[in-house]
Amino acid sequence: MSKNEMWGGRFAQGPSEIMKDINVSIDFDRRLYAQDIMASTAHARMLAERGIIAQEDAKAIIAGLAQVKAEIESGQFTFSRELEDIHMNVEERLKQIIGAPAGRLHTARSRNDQVATDFRLWVRDAIDRLDGGLVQFQRALVRRAGEHAATVMPGFTHLQTAQPTTFGHHLMAYVEMAARDRARLASARRTTNMNPLGSAALAGTSFPIDREMTTASLAFSEPMRNSLDGVSSRDFALEFLGACAILATHLSRLAEEIVLWTSPAFGFVRLPDAWSTGSSIMPQKRNPDAAELVRAKCARVTGSLVTLLGVMKALPLTYSKDMQEDKQAVFDAADSAELALAAMAGMVADLTVNAAAMRAMAGSAFSTATDLADFIVRVLGKPFREAHHITGRIVALAEARGCGLCELSLADMQSVEPGLTADVMSVLGVEASAGSRTSLGGTSPQRVMEQVQLWQERLK
Ligand code: ARG
Repeated sequence: MSKNEMWGGRFAQGPSEIMKDINVSIDFDRRLYAQDIMASTAHARMLAERGIIAQEDAKAIIAGLAQVKAEIESGQFTFSRELEDIHMNVEERLKQIIGAPAGRLHTARSRNDQVATDFRLWVRDAIDRLDGGLVQFQRALVRRAGEHAATVMPGFTHLQTAQPTTFGHHLMAYVEMAARDRARLASARRTTNMNPLGSAALAGTSFPIDREMTTASLAFSEPMRNSLDGVSSRDFALEFLGACAILATHLSRLAEEIVLWTSPAFGFVRLPDAWSTGSSIMPQKRNPDAAELVRAKCARVTGSLVTLLGVMKALPLTYSKDMQEDKQAVFDAADSAELALAAMAGMVADLTVNAAAMRAMAGSAFSTATDLADFIVRVLGKPFREAHHITGRIVALAEARGCGLCELSLADMQSVEPGLTADVMSVLGVEASAGSRTSLGGTSPQRVMEQVQLWQERLK
């Protein structure tokens, strides 16, 4: 067992094999390589600027780091588990390339502020990618909503047909959710975009570093003002995971609806071959696997949030190795959320709509009963509670007759409420019902188109 090169000075023996296995993070934290090199470059430049290391050494370090990056990106770099993590892998290769000056890079910093910096940079990028994915998702929804602003479908409560709505209105509900998801990510971005570099191990450093300089070169908004907080806080990652979990929850609801809508029992929507899978035994099957997987990815993302909350709970200040477990949770959540978003945007863009099936179900189950009650209020001047009662009796009559409200004769209706007149028929159709809901935020095609146009402008 060989001793560790980085801290072997006070050790007589190297680690056991199992110690290495539990300690090593290079298998996953290699994903931080670009951020690690970016932060090291900024640090080296600052050290030279402040006269802490020589300009020539900084030049050699920066050029060497660029070479390491190129080697990683071209697949020539060999990651070593012996070197534990991305920070030591990069530094060791730098030493092979430039020799002794490499040893000066770690002046006035620690892996504790280094990893906090790298991770914040990574999360910041992930937020920006997810925001782009959300915009694509919103664009797909708005485009389809514009096509289907007047396509009547049943609106549900308790998954029971409730009142007619339109497919466009339904899709636009997800545009609003996605807008709030974007706002949550923007908030997480503000929390993330603060610079911990210079916190060093935990207490800061005695070297005359310039934290404003690294803050500017890494495009952080400000330096973190407490070094203990700088190395030990992960609330930025929790906030990111919280935003991802809510976003994935929104996607899972639409995914579930696509699963329902594509089932023959609903038949509202068809996914093209590109978004369907078949069955190895049942030749007739078309399964919405992508939607089902989005539904399940949500559980993984939520799981990641719970994982990191658990890791951080009751952890005393400052850094503890527990915090190394932050990365897989965040990487997995970001990957899952990104893929789920892309899949949902694709399905929304490509699905085809069976308007006849939607319309048929929209008119079932006495879905315009509220319109009848509203008519009784408006035309006969009854209080809503009484109108509700009268309508309930008319629904019971239709149910007994085995027909819809539209199919009852006026005489039938008058047997319950003598004041009803022939124009009641005009409010019982599904188009009339949807069209009448013109209140702000309502389902009428006219209101939906206004929202579509507003969002088209915003998403330009
Ligand atoms: N691989 C470590 C992590 O991800 C880097 C920081 C190590 N710091 C330490 N004091 N052992 O957290």
